[in-house]
Formats: sequence, structure tokens, C-alpha cells
Amino acid sequence: MPATGTRKRLADLGAVASGLAHEIRNPLNALYINSQILEEMLAALPEEATDRKEELLSLARANMRVTQRLNDILSEFLRFARPTAMELVVADLNRVVADTLRFLEVDFARRGIELVAAFHPDPLPLFADEKQLRQALLNVLLNAEEALDKEKKVIKVTTGSERGQPFVRVTDNGRGIPRADRKQIFHLFFSTRKNGTGLGLPIVRKIVREHGGKIGIRSREGRGTTVTIFLPPEEQSKARMRERASGRPLPEKVR
Ligand SMILES: Nc1ncnc2c1ncn2[C@@H]1O[C@H](COP(=O)(O)OP(=O)(O)OP(=O)(O)O)[C@@H](O)[C@H]1O
Ligand SMILES: [Mg+2]
Repeated sequence: MPATGTRKRLADLGAVASGLAHEIRNPLNALYINSQILEEMLAALPEEATDRKEELLSLARANMRVTQRLNDILSEFLRFARPTAMELVVADLNRVVADTLRFLEVDFARRGIELVAAFHPDPLPLFADEKQLRQALLNVLLNAEEALDKEKKVIKVTTGSERGQPFVRVTDNGRGIPRADRKQIFHLFFSTRKNGTGLGLPIVRKIVREHGGKIGIRSREGRGTTVTIFLPPEEQSKARMRERASGRPLPEKVR
């Protein structure tokens, strides 16, 4: 299969990047600890020792913040790159969505965001990793929240089933995605936000793909964005997993 070579190269690249991230972590920790010691030493200096104490302190503190931020990026990247075993259970998409929303409710209310939730009247059974699905949904919801730029802020969350495929849809009335950005939003580290890492949507895509699902995005600049995640229903996922388990390729050589 021609794709195998590419897939293998990507997997190798992922392994190299993870190795690199791990290598960077130790010196980065040393840098953080050194900045912390420096900060403590400066703070302990008597006022008459230097007239630039505040300036030096603020530099040491800035170093601590920057190293902390780099460490966060590395952690998030490593979480993304690590192959994760899926913990599959029978789950109701309605409940997964409701649980995730409960987690954000207070934050939304505080920011004056109107949350409109419309759930499918019947349970939407999946065979899925609930924790991963909550993570994917949370990333999408946070993106929606961060895009809100109008006086009236609305996020609408709908669950449903289309041609037997359960879905969850998140619509915001935020700034929308400029046409030029659309091809890039799933690229690793693509971000237009000041404090964005650009890992949110790549993680969403990874999770949805591993579940055999699909993501659709529709956006109008200045008007808002709609993200829809389709997931295979319980029986379809189970069949897929059974197929995977039995269809595992045999080793090429008998050792
Ligand atoms: N609902 C949305 N409305 C407008 N732009 C969006 C929306 N969702 C994603 N984007 C665009 O896609 C980019 C990538 O999103 P992604 O979630 O991958 O990274 P991020 O949000 O910038 O950073 P983070 O790693 O913290 O999630 C965003 O920076 C933004 O430009
Ligand atoms: Mg994001």
C-alpha cells in the first residue's frame, strides 16, 4: 500500500519529536529552578545593595513565566504524541455532552455567555472512550468561547442523529475563521490566538479519527462557526473493533 511509507515516516517523525521534547524538558526544568533561586536571592537583597532590585526581580519572574509556558507546551505536545490506549465503554453521547457542559457552565455564566443546549430526546449509544470524547468536546467549546467577540455571546450545543450517525454540534456567534486560515486550523501548532498553542484541533481530530468518526466545520467570517462531530453508533464501533482485532496483519517472518 503506498500510504504505508508515508504513515511510517510520520510515525517516525512523531517519535523523534517526542524524544526531542523529552530532551528539552530537563534543561528547561533546570532553567526554571535557577530562575526561581535567582528570584529568591534578589528578593532577599537589602534595598541598599542595588537601586535596580525591582527591575532584576521582574526579569527573573519573567524567566520563570516563560519557562513555565514552554513546559506547558511540551506537556501538551507529549500528551498529543503519546499513543493512547482507548478505554472503550458503552456511552450515551447526550450524557458525555451534558457532563462536559456542566464543567464549563460557571465559566460561561461569568463571562455572560448564553448557552443554548438542545439534546436529542433519546439516548445516543456509542462505544467510545468517554474521557477522550469529553476532551475533544472541551477543546471545541473552548475555541467557541475564545472566538466570541460580540456584545451578545451565544454558544449553541445540539446533539442528534443523522442517517444513523450520532452527532454533536457546537455553534458560536464569534469572529469566524478567515478563508485563508481554514486549510490550516488542523495543522499542529497553527494558532491565531495570543496564548494559543495550536494543539486543540489536532487533538480533536486525532480523537475523532481514532473513534472512526468525522468532523465538519462551517464558518462565516464575522458571523460565527459551527463544528460538527459525527461518531459511529455503538454497534458500528463494536463491529469495527472486532474487525481490527481479528484482521491484525500476520508477522512477515516466522521467528
Ligand atoms: N470556533 C472558532 N472560531 C474562530 N476561529 C477558530 C475557532 N476554532 C478554531 N479557530 C481557529 O483555529 C485555530 C486553531 O485552533 P486550535 O484549537 O487548534 O488552537 P488554539 O485554540 O489557537 O490553541 P490551543 O492549543 O490552546 O487550543 C485558532 O487559533 C483559531 O484561529
Ligand atoms: Mg483551541
